[in-house]
Amino acid sequence: MAAKGKTAPTVKVQQGNPLTKWFTRAVVLLVFLATYSWLDTIKDRWYVFNPKSLHELAQAAIAAAPSPDDTTFMVQYIAANLTATYPSSQIALNPNTSEWVISNAGGAMGAMYIIHASITEYLIIFGTPLGTEGHTGLHTADDYFNILVGEQWAFAPPNLEMERYPAGSVHHLPRGYMKQYKMHEGCFALEYARGWIPLMLPFGLADVLSSTLDYVSFYHTARITGREIIKNLLIGKI
Ligand SMILES: *[C@@H]1O[C@H](CO)[C@@H](O)[C@H](O)[C@H]1NC(C)=O
Ligand SMILES: *[C@@H]1O[C@H](CO)[C@@H](O)[C@H](O)[C@H]1NC(C)=O
Repeated sequence: MAAKGKTAPTVKVQQGNPLTKWFTRAVVLLVFLATYSWLDTIKDRWYVFNPKSLHELAQAAIAAAPSPDDTTFMVQYIAANLTATYPSSQIALNPNTSEWVISNAGGAMGAMYIIHASITEYLIIFGTPLGTEGHTGLHTADDYFNILVGEQWAFAPPNLEMERYPAGSVHHLPRGYMKQYKMHEGCFALEYARGWIPLMLPFGLADVLSSTLDYVSFYHTARITGREIIKNLLIGKI
């Protein structure tokens, strides 16, 4: 009886709590949204690369290549140019052009070499000599797909015509847009994304968890991405 009498007031106190609890949650949510909106307006100051010079670099790599399908040459040309252009105190780059990982995302399959990854930017070479097709993903970043070898096709309703991106062109997918795309036959591209990169990672890893179960590629993708993001944070590159 005594024990029951003691527990009753505690129950009453807990019944009074939910309002405070929900108020606290609402405040936390508002602070989070306000911080996100503020960071979103200033994120441009952390960008190091720019779409125009990367497009010029992609075109220069194509022009310098001994043949239009010499992907290896173009990749080495691009990595050498970037490491010579950007000081290592400003941005960390991965100079190892042999470090390719299998990538499955949005139903498409290929391989990628991660040149750079940080919180607000990434730069990769993505492609396959076989061709592939899938969903671009719906992203919190702007995406610039600089075609190096082959051709990329895209479809975005209500425009029922096929969009065509040959080598040397750039396919810009603005943040918040999505398309169906196809790398008809072999195609490789220099892909630059700027925006909130960590929010893009679930798209890049979902196919592994729901379909391929390729935990080896999953491990290397997570390891290399994490390593590059940390290397950049250590020199103050967000
Ligand atoms: C890198 O490529 C750009 C674009 O082609 C060119 O303007 C620049 O001179 C190159 N830099 C180096 C160090 O090769
Ligand atoms: C480059 O990457 C390849 C593949 O992961 C690896 O075998 C090699 O040791 C790396 N080279 C250097 C210099 O880190």
